[in-house]
Amino acid sequence: MDKKKLVVLTGAGVSAESGLGTYRDNGGLWDRYDPMEVASDRGWRRNPGLVLDFYNMQREKLQTCAPNAAHKAIASLESDWDVQVITQNVDNLHERAGSSKVLHLHGEVTKVRPENCCNEADGFSEKFVRDVGYGRVSLGDLAENGAQLRPHIVFFGEAVPKMQEAVQMVSQADLMLIVGTSLSVYPAASLYGFTQPGTPIYIIDPADVNTGSRGMHHIKKTAVEGMKDFIEILKSK
Ligand code: APR
Repeated sequence: MDKKKLVVLTGAGVSAESGLGTYRDNGGLWDRYDPMEVASDRGWRRNPGLVLDFYNMQREKLQTCAPNAAHKAIASLESDWDVQVITQNVDNLHERAGSSKVLHLHGEVTKVRPENCCNEADGFSEKFVRDVGYGRVSLGDLAENGAQLRPHIVFFGEAVPKMQEAVQMVSQADLMLIVGTSLSVYPAASLYGFTQPGTPIYIIDPADVNTGSRGMHHIKKTAVEGMKDFIEILKSK
């Protein structure tokens, strides 16, 4: 019998217990860096070296981090569910925890591409996307086509090319789980609204969340503790 579909939308909170900072908590990344300077299309045009340094730092930090028990718990659900992870995170911790289906809405920090590719003009082709691992990329590092290499990240101000694919996945979910996101960045934050009416939605976050009109079940715990509760809830169904 086909496994039921579980869609898991994650944000920075799922990686918090791996030692990666979140963006908007106190002391978060956006308290220390201006996203418009280091993570926007305008920032890239104005000072690409600053953007490259920001993501070099993110890669260096990621190399020292490992998946936590929440990432592993999400991956373990694949034994009983057809699990599709849709993450806003640019880290590789879901994959390293064993999740086999991960869609990165906002790109991947371990990947780079020519700055003149993967845009509206070429239909967001990923043909020239390359894996750079945890390495550094600097001004003057050029792609095969001679263009400057840039992070394979969706900058603020850029389209989210995988959003339609994500909407399709959510619309087919039998169950949805949201872990560790402030639901403050669109269009990702609108995804849960594409579930079929009556589809149960659980959200794990230690902070208060705006569960909107969809009546989510809020597990007010961290990702690691909340996943233990969520798995118990699944067993009781
Ligand atoms: N476990 C679970 N959730 C946690 C934990 C934890 N240990 N610690 C913090 N959180 C929650 C916070 O309460 C908050 O709701 O994780 C969420 C983090 O929110 P943000 O920092 O806004 O991160 P995120 O929602 O992923 O941001 C979305 O914004 O800057 C862009 O592209 C960037 O993908 C990012 C997007």
